[in-house]
Amino acid sequence: MRIMLPQEILQHCYGWTVNKMENNRYLTFALGKGRLADQTLKTFEQIGITCEEMKDKKTRRLIFVNEELKLRFFLAKGPDVPTYVEYGAADIGIVGKDTILEEARNIYEVLDLGFGKCRMCICGPKEAKELLQHHELIRVATKYPRIAKDYFYNKKHQTVEIIKLNGSIELAPIVGLSEVICDIVETGSTLRENGLDVLEEVCPLSARMVVNQVSMKMEHERINRLITDLKHVLQEGNV
Ligand code: PRP
Repeated sequence: MRIMLPQEILQHCYGWTVNKMENNRYLTFALGKGRLADQTLKTFEQIGITCEEMKDKKTRRLIFVNEELKLRFFLAKGPDVPTYVEYGAADIGIVGKDTILEEARNIYEVLDLGFGKCRMCICGPKEAKELLQHHELIRVATKYPRIAKDYFYNKKHQTVEIIKLNGSIELAPIVGLSEVICDIVETGSTLRENGLDVLEEVCPLSARMVVNQVSMKMEHERINRLITDLKHVLQEGNV
């Protein structure tokens, strides 16, 4: 067995701290606001990455820094996270798979974080199920036109009219704007309380880590260590 050099021992035990000495560039994280950000911070804490300032719910600050580890964090609207990462304003982003598919940015998706699990589904009243089986020209309301288009045009080969909405999608079939919706289902309670059903499943979703393509090369070591540490935590099932 090869004996570790003092520098290697330090690197092994205090990887992030040593890294700071070697590399003075901040690694910047863009986190999707809300539940995903809270869960991300909890997960990061388990690998020794903390950002106390960010826990203060009352703060109006937009950027949070961990000087010790040379890390910066900012909160952004979910759909903007892939944009920040593609342009390199953030090296790393944490965002839902739904947003990654919808935004279709040039970024690397490197890790499934396993939380924020839900499904993208085609939903509507029970009677609408038939309309999905006979290639009828129907209207589909959604916040995710790219995902809906891909599902209906490329997978089902059904021509539909996509109607873009910005929220409360379940309203559309109730008030007669569309026959079905393409939307996220988590617990299913919004559907149940509005008399709607899941008619077809498009794909499973969860939080993912995405990385800027240049950062992946330039910060290869730091980013790979982060991915490896997170994988260990996820395998241990502590998230
Ligand atoms: C999402 C989604 C559904 C709901 C599903 O909406 O669009 O409406 O959550 O969750 P459930 O299956 O647990 O009921 P969100 O709360 O993000 O608000 P929105 O309607 O503004 O999109």
